[in-house]
Amino acid sequence: MSFLDQLAELRARATAALAESVHDLPSLQAWERQFLGGRGELTALLRGIGSVPAEERPEAGREANALKRELTAHYEAREAELATADLAQRLESDAVDVTLPGRRSPLGTVHPVWKMIDEVSQIFALMGFETVFGPEVEIGRYNFDLLNIPSDHPARDVWDTIIVESDREEIVLRTHTSPMQARIMEQREPPVRVIVPGRTYRYEAQDASHEWMFTQIEGLAVDENIKMTDLKGVLQEMARQLFGPNRRIRFRCDFFPFVEPGVDFAVDCAICDGKGCRVCKQTGWLEMGGAGMVHPRVLQGVGYDPERYTGFAFGLGVERLVMMKYGVNDLRAFAGNDLRFLRQFAAATI
Ligand code: PHE
Repeated sequence: MSFLDQLAELRARATAALAESVHDLPSLQAWERQFLGGRGELTALLRGIGSVPAEERPEAGREANALKRELTAHYEAREAELATADLAQRLESDAVDVTLPGRRSPLGTVHPVWKMIDEVSQIFALMGFETVFGPEVEIGRYNFDLLNIPSDHPARDVWDTIIVESDREEIVLRTHTSPMQARIMEQREPPVRVIVPGRTYRYEAQDASHEWMFTQIEGLAVDENIKMTDLKGVLQEMARQLFGPNRRIRFRCDFFPFVEPGVDFAVDCAICDGKGCRVCKQTGWLEMGGAGMVHPRVLQGVGYDPERYTGFAFGLGVERLVMMKYGVNDLRAFAGNDLRFLRQFAAATI
């Protein structure tokens, strides 16, 4: 076979091998070693160029160099191609799909009791009442003494107090939000108009309508010329905002040492429009809390002149409001932490 024919044959084999057996960088290296490298076939062929007749040698040399450039160009092109493919493949296999949704942590919602507090606060804000908060751990002076419940008074027992400490000074979990009446009046001069939402505690056996912890909203307004009708008007307005425009408020005589006169107040049942149903236990009325005109002794105790100022106060049971509004029939559900119960309020708007 002539030298030129051998070159042609080598070109054909090298090109075919490149197409057939080179599929990654290692096999490309092997191909390079076989055909192009220092010990490769083309080098071996070139070594034998001396035996080519002298007049054919220049052409043989040109052709051999041309083949070397050609194979080198093939090699470089293929190497670039494989490197790109390799990168593309690694990008694919190592890829992080940033569009995949992450693991969602459960989103909490406002507790129904606090939704109701927000709602009631808004209603009272429009009537000029500021919302304030007070301590849940109280001293006897505010929980009782300044509310006209001296320590020897039998009424003190009515509140089923959870006592935290009794050695030096009586420290209790507040049994109602009323101690904030005294705290606020001590701090401010009339006119006073506040509501005080918060937790309260009583040592009680639990059942569907009693809990050892529950929530109240205290209301207090003190100024010149505050009258019982103002109290009734304010409570009626709240009931209408909460339960509809036809609601009525009922006062009945009741006794609380810090008000005179004292009442318990009820709203007529929104479910049956006061006719009597299961929710209102056929009475037509739903009890909401206690209220009355601030006792002159309470005003005196905080340094207000009872000849000049009068005021009203009320205490609402918040769980009770939610129960009425949403037909909840067991008070224990509120602190029971059952998500199936709580989730039902997630969409309720305030
Ligand atoms: N603090 C009273 C209770 O918890 C309710 C109340 C508040 C009564 C204000 C009159 C005035 O029973």
